[in-house]
Amino acid sequence: MTTSTAVILGVGPLDGLGGALCERAAQGGLHVVAAGRTPDALDAVTLAIKNNGGQASTFVTDATQETDVNALIAHCESIGPLELCIYNAGNNFPGSFLQMEADYFERAWRVGCFGGFLFARAALRTMTPRATGTLLFTGASASLRGKPGFAAFTAAKAGLRTMVQSLAKEYGAQGIHVAQVMIDGGINGARLRERLGDQPVENPDAFVGLSGLADLYLFLHHQPRNAWTHELDVRTHLENF
Ligand SMILES: NC(=O)c1ccc[n+]([C@@H]2O[C@H](COP(=O)([O-])OP(=O)(O)OC[C@H]3O[C@@H](n4cnc5c(N)ncnc54)[C@H](OP(=O)(O)O)[C@@H]3O)[C@@H](O)[C@H]2O)c1
Repeated sequence: MTTSTAVILGVGPLDGLGGALCERAAQGGLHVVAAGRTPDALDAVTLAIKNNGGQASTFVTDATQETDVNALIAHCESIGPLELCIYNAGNNFPGSFLQMEADYFERAWRVGCFGGFLFARAALRTMTPRATGTLLFTGASASLRGKPGFAAFTAAKAGLRTMVQSLAKEYGAQGIHVAQVMIDGGINGARLRERLGDQPVENPDAFVGLSGLADLYLFLHHQPRNAWTHELDVRTHLENF
């Protein structure tokens, strides 16, 4: 029997969100295609999945390149019908507004918003003829509100949020569950440890946990079509909001 596929675009280290989403989707019995720009990171994620008995492969993709994204979705379909598509690409783009280069602002938008458009379009073109499938996006506090020093990032994430709302309204009736997860706070993962260097994470409870996050995405994917969530916001019990 052909195994259905899941694609996660924006996969870095195993203990980042993209890596955790790949692991959880594979545990759910899907063949996972881990997509991103860094081959070594993708290989590490798929090796861990295979070592645990799951099915996974990699596809090097720049989310901002139309030909890459179209090729990614076509590749997934050649393995098995696409069932779950997650757009997770995005690095943080902080910066002083007055010193900001125009190119920096545009890059933030290309990864945070435009890539989401390319991915959604390719995924929807593939899934709508079957009238089934889940299309999920990763949001952040920046999707919901602006903050000093984050003009570029908020423009990208807020743009993504409203585009995704439009897609949910347009394609829900065609059988596609379009939803987004707003992560309101820092994630306890590789990026945080990279930032801290040798310092330990003082209070892990103050950062959003990867396992709980991965659960949310799979929860959305398994919702019945007469009880769909469009947006989930998630934060730690310590977050001020
Ligand atoms: N980390 C946090 O504290 C936090 C908090 C709230 C929301 N989020 C959101 O969560 C998502 C990522 O989570 P994460 O921080 O744990 O990172 P991650 O899932 O471990 O990795 C995300 C990956 O996206 C990749 N990426 C960036 N630009 C790309 C592009 N043009 N094409 C393909 N891949 C690209 C990065 O690759 P490179 O390594 O090549 O740059 C990175 O490996 C993002 O959407 C982010 O906005 C993160």
